[in-house]
Amino acid sequence: MNQNMGGNEIRQKYLEFMRKNGHAIIPSSALVPENDPTTLFTSSGMQPLIPYLMGEAHPKGVRLANSQKCFRANDLEEVGDNRHTTFFEMLGNWSLGDYFKKEQLRWFFTYLVDEVGLDPNRIYVTVFAGDEKLGIPADEESVLLWQELFREKGIDAKAVHIGTEERGYEVGMQGGRIFYYDAGKNWWSRSGKPENMPTGEIGGPDSEVFYDFGPEYATHPIFKDKAPHPNSDSGQFLEIGNSVFIEYIKQADGSFTKLPQRNVDFGGGLERISAAKNGDPDVFKVDLLANVVRQIESLSGKKYDDNLVAFRVITDHIRGAVFMIGDGVLPGNEQQGYFVRRLLRRAVRFADDLNIKAGEFANLAEGVISTYQNHFVNLTEKRTEIIEAIAKEEEQFRKTLESGMKQFSKISLQIHLTSTEKDGKKVIDKSIPPIKIKAISAQNAFDLYTTYGFPIELTEEIAEEKGLVVDRKGFETLMEEHRAKSRAGAEQKFKGGLADHSEKVVQYHTATHLLLAGLRKELGEHVHQAGSNITGERLRFDFTHPDKVERDVLDRVEAFVNSAIKTGGEVTIEMLPKDVAQEDQTIEASFWDRYPDEVKVYTMKGNDGATFSRELCGGPHVKRLEEIKGVFKIVKEESSSAGVRRIKGIIE
Ligand code: ALA
Repeated sequence: MNQNMGGNEIRQKYLEFMRKNGHAIIPSSALVPENDPTTLFTSSGMQPLIPYLMGEAHPKGVRLANSQKCFRANDLEEVGDNRHTTFFEMLGNWSLGDYFKKEQLRWFFTYLVDEVGLDPNRIYVTVFAGDEKLGIPADEESVLLWQELFREKGIDAKAVHIGTEERGYEVGMQGGRIFYYDAGKNWWSRSGKPENMPTGEIGGPDSEVFYDFGPEYATHPIFKDKAPHPNSDSGQFLEIGNSVFIEYIKQADGSFTKLPQRNVDFGGGLERISAAKNGDPDVFKVDLLANVVRQIESLSGKKYDDNLVAFRVITDHIRGAVFMIGDGVLPGNEQQGYFVRRLLRRAVRFADDLNIKAGEFANLAEGVISTYQNHFVNLTEKRTEIIEAIAKEEEQFRKTLESGMKQFSKISLQIHLTSTEKDGKKVIDKSIPPIKIKAISAQNAFDLYTTYGFPIELTEEIAEEKGLVVDRKGFETLMEEHRAKSRAGAEQKFKGGLADHSEKVVQYHTATHLLLAGLRKELGEHVHQAGSNITGERLRFDFTHPDKVERDVLDRVEAFVNSAIKTGGEVTIEMLPKDVAQEDQTIEASFWDRYPDEVKVYTMKGNDGATFSRELCGGPHVKRLEEIKGVFKIVKEESSSAGVRRIKGIIE
């Protein structure tokens, strides 16, 4: 067996193996999800497949596999250790109501041991311990399957109970090979454990596979006086793959019911499996990343081993930026673009630390593109565009650095010296008068961060060079407020279906009511809203209807909406007791039980008094239909899930 198997080969072997086992190999989706404004990036392989896991038929069948490009923005600041990266590839295979645990666990184990050549003695697995509250049993089936697989390799695999991570530190390995953990560890959904899942989210118990690099890698300080166990962040064990048995959907009352089909959602970290193959947990030593590391060494004349953090940050960030730009996201100040900007600016700063010459930074993109040229051909196709975008961002950043510097205004901070110690704690001695020092204000640091893309560490470093301090505490307070605001924004987007209450969003919202009324008129009374998501650019509307809606019907619906807009009639609001409204057959509502006892009804009428739409809603809406500026168009009609269709519409 090839001992120097690289990442490209490991990916290829996986796809071949899955193909042999009846899977259609599908392309990786883009890093930016297509139809999902609730999340900025694709961060797992299953994300683009959710409608199919929920029952919609996939055109390629019931067995799918790929290597999905993923980006985890939350890990941006974590990069620097041996395992965190923002961008990574997730090897994935899916059973859409086809095979289940028996095939899945055997295939992954066989792939790791017989195809990649990992030592089975170094493999440890975890399974779901069950949850009484949810009425979901322990996954004993997986335990028996794992025991058989290990037995075939001459390994007696004992199953032991761990439960929570904390308990694991007390009880340790207990001579086990298979470990039961609670839902906090062995349950997967996009939102994590069961209690964090919103209504309608799918998920299920999982079985994770860990590779044991050896106790010499258990370098995390916590392990000085605590027992190791696989699913902890010791450094000794690395999770390399996860088989999720997606069988459940969360209900509004917090309970779980079974989906119409039993699915497998498998995800394996390509870089991590490659690290296991290397026998070294440092993913930056895997060839896919090591190629860039070598390039940095030659550009800087410095060694990776002497500058681990700088090398890792540059390597990860340039790779992330290359893939992002390859998927059409250019550095900018909004949304996904802001992350590309942050990646590049942070990387340039670290490149400066390594004395890489200004203007040479963008050359690092070459290493990424050539490493991936056979699998992600779009990078080669967009080579010039990618390198130019990076070079331009570097140049702009250097200019910004200058003008940003001019924004530094100094304020005086009154600082009390801590001068005495009491019970081992420093206390302020108020008898000594405070001293004044020059500092960068919190607002300044915050503006530099949001407007100029200066990471706070950069502001601090520059300040230090100038003999100033930064009001870091004040900065953190502003950041917390900022985050709370954006969190609130994100929640609203998810819950209310409206991105915000801007003029355009409100216009789309009113148009959505007209759209539903038009659909009911053309298709029938069975049509109700099943979901709605509106931004300033488009509306997306899910409704109950079993079949495809033909274009001529869509044209008539479009004409209905536009004729209503044209009359420019009034939109009125009445408050009614819910039971009265419920009796009124002219009032449309999809989710009666979501509304309070007193409900708001929006009525949209033409100037001749004819009613276009009467619907229960929380608002907001335009006051007159003529405020909808433009012509309404249905640009797409597609299936959303079983019995639910989806329309995308724009106002032009
Ligand atoms: N979707 C699963 C994960 O991301 C496989 O771990």
